[in-house]
Amino acid sequence: MKAIRIALTKGRLEKYAIEMFEEIGIDCSELKNKGRKLILKDEKNNIEFVLVKSTDVLTYVEHGAADIGIVGKDTLMEQNKNFYEVVDLKVGKCIFAVASLPSYKSYDGYNRKKIATKYPTVAKDYFKKNGEDVEIIKLDGSVELAPILELSDAIVDLVETGDTLKENGLIIIDKICDISARMIVNRASMKMNKEKISSLIVKIQQYVDRNEVTVS
Ligand code: PRP
Repeated sequence: MKAIRIALTKGRLEKYAIEMFEEIGIDCSELKNKGRKLILKDEKNNIEFVLVKSTDVLTYVEHGAADIGIVGKDTLMEQNKNFYEVVDLKVGKCIFAVASLPSYKSYDGYNRKKIATKYPTVAKDYFKKNGEDVEIIKLDGSVELAPILELSDAIVDLVETGDTLKENGLIIIDKICDISARMIVNRASMKMNKEKISSLIVKIQQYVDRNEVTVS
């Protein structure tokens, strides 16, 4: 039988995902000692993991090259793709926020503000909802630099600990929404592998609920 393939996000979410899969009985030893290997297997449970960039998790799952994906809600909000979002994993928590220098004025006459961000769709939607016409400047990282170097008036970015903002003299102007990691499933896989995927969803939901109780 074909293995269930799970696309994991490299980086911050990787460690949470491994912890979670181990806890529900999946062997993650290959995943933990991956070296340069790109496909990591648990032969016994017939599961394969691939570690990719967050936006690529969506691409693999949408096209069915992976059955399941673990990815941040931030990436889901930015990319309009087609799949089932099945579990809020309640980890990798952070917020989307508008941030700037303390001198930033929310209402500043008719000046069209410049907003730098890695998330142009999220930024556009937020300012549109607020009835503000802004110019979006797309960056690929270190977005906090933009208001400091006067590339933009403000930024829309993820804030986790707040340290990056603080160490660069920026403040939160407005919180946009909460973010956490999600489990997503390819639509066709959900039908074809209903039993195996449903059982994984139940185990993961139970794991999330157990951990929430332990935390509070
Ligand atoms: C993210 C985000 C912020 C920072 C927030 O960037 O874009 O810059 O983390 O975290 P903090 O509130 O805990 O300081 P990332 O580390 O992914 O780097 P990049 O923006 O340079 O790609």
